[in-house]
Amino acid sequence: MLKRTHMCGDLRDEHIGETVVVAGWVNTYRDQGKGLLFIDLRDRAGIGQVVFDLEDANSDVVQAARMLRREDVIAARGVVRTRVGGPNPKLATGTIEVMATELEVLNKTETPPILPDDYEASKIAPEKRLQYRYIDLRRPRMQQILRTRHEVARTARTYFAEHGFIEVETPCLIKTTPEGARDFVVPSRSYPGQWYALPQSPQIFKQILMVSGCDRYLQIVRCFRDEDPRADRQAEFTQIDLEMSFVDRDDVMAMMGGLAKRLWKEVLDVELGEIPVLSYHDAMERYGIDRPDLRFGLEIEDVSDLAAKTDFKVFQDALAKDRGVVKAMRVPGGAEKLTRKLTDDYTKWIRTFRAGGVPVVKLTANGFETGIAKFLGPIADALRERLELEEGDTVLFTADTWSIATKAIGELRNRVARDLDLVEEGTWKMLWVVDFPMFERDEDQERWVALHHPFTAPRTDQFDELERAPGECISAAYDLVCNGSEIAGGSIRIHRPDVQRKVFELLGIGAEEAEQKFGFLLKALRFGAPPHGGIAFGLDRLVMLLAGTDDIKDVIAFPKTQTGQDLMTEAPAPVDAEQLEELHVRVVVPEVVEPV
Ligand code: AMO
Repeated sequence: MLKRTHMCGDLRDEHIGETVVVAGWVNTYRDQGKGLLFIDLRDRAGIGQVVFDLEDANSDVVQAARMLRREDVIAARGVVRTRVGGPNPKLATGTIEVMATELEVLNKTETPPILPDDYEASKIAPEKRLQYRYIDLRRPRMQQILRTRHEVARTARTYFAEHGFIEVETPCLIKTTPEGARDFVVPSRSYPGQWYALPQSPQIFKQILMVSGCDRYLQIVRCFRDEDPRADRQAEFTQIDLEMSFVDRDDVMAMMGGLAKRLWKEVLDVELGEIPVLSYHDAMERYGIDRPDLRFGLEIEDVSDLAAKTDFKVFQDALAKDRGVVKAMRVPGGAEKLTRKLTDDYTKWIRTFRAGGVPVVKLTANGFETGIAKFLGPIADALRERLELEEGDTVLFTADTWSIATKAIGELRNRVARDLDLVEEGTWKMLWVVDFPMFERDEDQERWVALHHPFTAPRTDQFDELERAPGECISAAYDLVCNGSEIAGGSIRIHRPDVQRKVFELLGIGAEEAEQKFGFLLKALRFGAPPHGGIAFGLDRLVMLLAGTDDIKDVIAFPKTQTGQDLMTEAPAPVDAEQLEELHVRVVVPEVVEPV
């Protein structure tokens, strides 16, 4: 077998005159009928041109070369020379070519069902690309993303090693973890009727490692959450997970901010600068979302006090509700850019977020016009001043309970930015969001739910609130947000068993249930738990940002579809009756055809 001496994608002018052996896949094949046959050969490093002179070469080489087809695997020996047909500026190897004298066909392919071509990829059915993932991954773009992912993991490991973290593996077959999603479960053969859960995160184990004196823990770890996949969510994903002892919130944020800066510098050569900090309250009030995209303005104002002075029924009805509010967003130049069709569409679309509609008004040279203009008379001047309106602006409103109106206008803000192309690509707006409430009220079930997870501590000045007014208690949690995506989340933890019990109690987890589910943690907290805190980065989301893709499937070598299937291996799949018997499992619905 010809033994490779160089990657064909690495060849440059400096190799001219050298005899090399290159190996890879036939990317394109051109026989121009003038006795020359051109192959674009692809390997991991890129694409290089290999030329066969059919008149000079021996007959075996000619015969083999003539039979070549796209995606055949070959090796060729030849001399590197300046490209005779002139340079190809589109290729990094575009100034040279390999004049082949030997050819070895290492493997002929059957006709490939898809071709690994970045330009054609969007035209191929996504299911087909997942089914033939090994071919799709040959695309230069996919290879580049795999390398970016590797760089991110490598940089994180180096960074944390420099700061005294040690990597510890935690188990995959565990007892349920409370990250709020459904568990994937695994039946036990040895304990009939008993099940392991796959970890939604290593949360409890990393806390226990702090009790064990590990001090600084790191793991690049797979997490499993049985929830429907979305553009930035997979059931099986990876975290850069860490925990630190004897630290406060600022220590963890500084450590993680340092990693973000290092990653952006090493992968993109971008200086991130200082990362601003915003409270949850301000994020919700100004942007209507706890992960605001700061690449554009469109700030939101509460105009409930002004709206109360109008006769507009929608405003009045909203304000009559418990915590009813009216929110407004100024869209500069919207009078021209936001067409009637768009604003009508917003009114229908906003119902997805439980809001009733989007009242609209435009400011023209003659004052407020169209939409709800006729109701704004009494507050016209005050509204202009509050929103700093200029002629040609449009104002969009939402009116409902605080929760619905705020979240709906937050979604609308992102939508308007997309529709009006306000997002400046290639810019990075990172921020910390802090001071989250400890709990959210689940009105349907009439109980508190943890906004982060039940091990999150109250902020040090908030312990009294836990007893007095849990709804007002602020936690020591923090999220890192980049361009509107939550890329990391964590908190300072509860390290006192009495506080942990109190929080469980507020969450409706009684003493018995707490003992049964988390007894081992409560016990560990009783035996010398140091103050500790940590955070987890979503590795996949980080790579999405750094690689510039908005589909999480692009950054995972073997992802699942929207319905949780692996189309290449065809998982999930039935198992043998024998295996089920061994596991003491009986299938009640034998033929599940459609995903439920
Ligand atoms: P959290 O649940 O916020 O925190 O997760 C941390 C980060 O993981 C990413 N992430 C996901 N990425 C892809 N698909 C998913 N289904 C998915 N779910 C979460 C996000 C998120 O910011 N144990 C805590 C961390 C801690 O408190 O230290 C935890 O798991 O980027």
